[in-house]
Amino acid sequence: MCGIIAYLGQKNGVPIVLKGLKRLEYRGYDSAGIALKQENNLKTIKAKGKIEQLKALINGENSNIVIGHTRWATHGEPNHINAHPHTSEGIAIVHNGIIENHASLRKELEHKYNYKFQSQTDSEVIAHLIDFFYDGDFEDAFRKMLTKIDGAFGIVALHKNHNQMICARKGSPLVLGIGENETFVASDPSPFLDHTKNVVYLDEKQMVIINPDSYQIKDFNGYNLEKEVEKISYGIESIQKQGYKHFMLKEINEQNETIKNCFRGKIKDIEMVSIKKENFQRIVLVACGTSYYAALVGKYIIEKTTHLPVLVEHASEFRYRQPMLYPTDLVVAISQSGETADTLEAIRLAKKIGCSTAGMVNVTGSSIAKECGQGIYLHAGPEIGVASTKAFTSQIIALNMLNLYINKDPYYKMKVIEEIKKLPDQIKSLLENQNIKPIAEKYRNAKYFLFMARDINYPVAMEGALKLKEISYIPAEGYPAGEMKHGPIALIDSEVPSVFIVTKDSIFPKVISNMEEVKSRKGKIICICDEINEEIQRLADDIIVVPQVKWEFTPIVNVIPMQLIAYHIADMNGKNVDQPKNLAKSCTVE
Ligand code: G6P
Repeated sequence: MCGIIAYLGQKNGVPIVLKGLKRLEYRGYDSAGIALKQENNLKTIKAKGKIEQLKALINGENSNIVIGHTRWATHGEPNHINAHPHTSEGIAIVHNGIIENHASLRKELEHKYNYKFQSQTDSEVIAHLIDFFYDGDFEDAFRKMLTKIDGAFGIVALHKNHNQMICARKGSPLVLGIGENETFVASDPSPFLDHTKNVVYLDEKQMVIINPDSYQIKDFNGYNLEKEVEKISYGIESIQKQGYKHFMLKEINEQNETIKNCFRGKIKDIEMVSIKKENFQRIVLVACGTSYYAALVGKYIIEKTTHLPVLVEHASEFRYRQPMLYPTDLVVAISQSGETADTLEAIRLAKKIGCSTAGMVNVTGSSIAKECGQGIYLHAGPEIGVASTKAFTSQIIALNMLNLYINKDPYYKMKVIEEIKKLPDQIKSLLENQNIKPIAEKYRNAKYFLFMARDINYPVAMEGALKLKEISYIPAEGYPAGEMKHGPIALIDSEVPSVFIVTKDSIFPKVISNMEEVKSRKGKIICICDEINEEIQRLADDIIVVPQVKWEFTPIVNVIPMQLIAYHIADMNGKNVDQPKNLAKSCTVE
């Protein structure tokens, strides 16, 4: 949800910031802008649309203090005026998050102090407040502004009279990149990764004053803080397409490796040492989007094999009702980005009630990882395609790891470990031997898709439908196969494809019966199965065979063909696969 990159150093920061914005486009891509300091002046350049549109307006500008922003609109439609940076007299700011009390602040600034607002955004108040408090001391004015605003923010500000950048974080991520005589600030490290791997993650309610030769981190009261410089473990290649047409395709194809990275080293130590597993009586999984479907898979695994009750909650719902939580609950946040606002707040709520908390997070040092303080990192590497793929399969591995941690049966544990080690090769062969493009071609113009499965693969059906609608905009629904007769069956006709997951297990015959029901209404059937038999051959119009794996891992092999169906249909239909309309990768607003 909006990306920030800022540069202060000795080079021309304009191309650095523009390149960085391109890498942050996955966070928002409806408009973009930069502000740069030239002598004692600030210049702002903004454009509606993608970074390319902004680039077209750059005309040899040169500055070694530059801030940039790519926007995902919350307040005010995506247009040139509402694009960041926002300005007041000699001040420019970029902001990620939501200023919740912007309306009252705006009213006061307009009516009492005659400030003229240009935009409809919540963010513009920040610039005017700094101006309001400014009497020659930029830092002091910035801090006074912080005392007035409520909500979530990552802010970077410039003042025409100061060779400084001042930033603050509360609720929205900011990370410093520490280079040789240059400092970067960004929403994540990707935009400066080719300049430095040395980073400092800002924590909640911390600010930084960046000067040409130094930086100082402070709390919001102005007290100096010392923070460790950390080193990013991944390289620039992980944020490049590496010959793939899209990031999503690259990320789908990485899953044999990312899965290995997720379980490697964790089989003995799953980084949950501070939770006394004997003490908790129930697990509550909170998540949003694709991560929520991974959580549902986790419920099937833990309840069936470890017999511990598991509650799965949409973080956005959980927060606003009266959740029945007990201090004996372990509340686990599942999140790729580690920044999803609802998931973060759900964990804060659980902590207030006194529950143990843990995170299953991909992005190291992210807000949710920090808030939980313990858990399992997915180690899937940066996921840039907006539609989540490799994070989902790693989340299923991590949930299996959690299950192994609490399960008491040594034989079961041994068996799972044995099977998990085989998975990367099985996935590799699935990826190398799949032939999904022709199936996608056949159904690319379908008006509607149904995805159906039972048991542990029911959440996978929902994830398959989500993938398709996210990137191809074809309406799609994931349903428990047994529920089809209570509604979706009314939609079936010869034009509607149904994707069935048919795994050879105890409920295999039940799914076959559901396929019969579709067939007798002339529906088209795409069958994802781990063994072809006569019935499947008779009923299915198209068959995708996946490797036979242990029940706990079937969601992983079954979701991959669904990811590829969605990918190829979207690509063939000319959609923007990596940046689908209206979506953002990291939802830092509620
Ligand atoms: C957004 C993304 C989804 C993601 C969801 C949850 O909607 O577009 O791909 O599944 O947020 O994100 P998280 O980072 O918490 O897993």
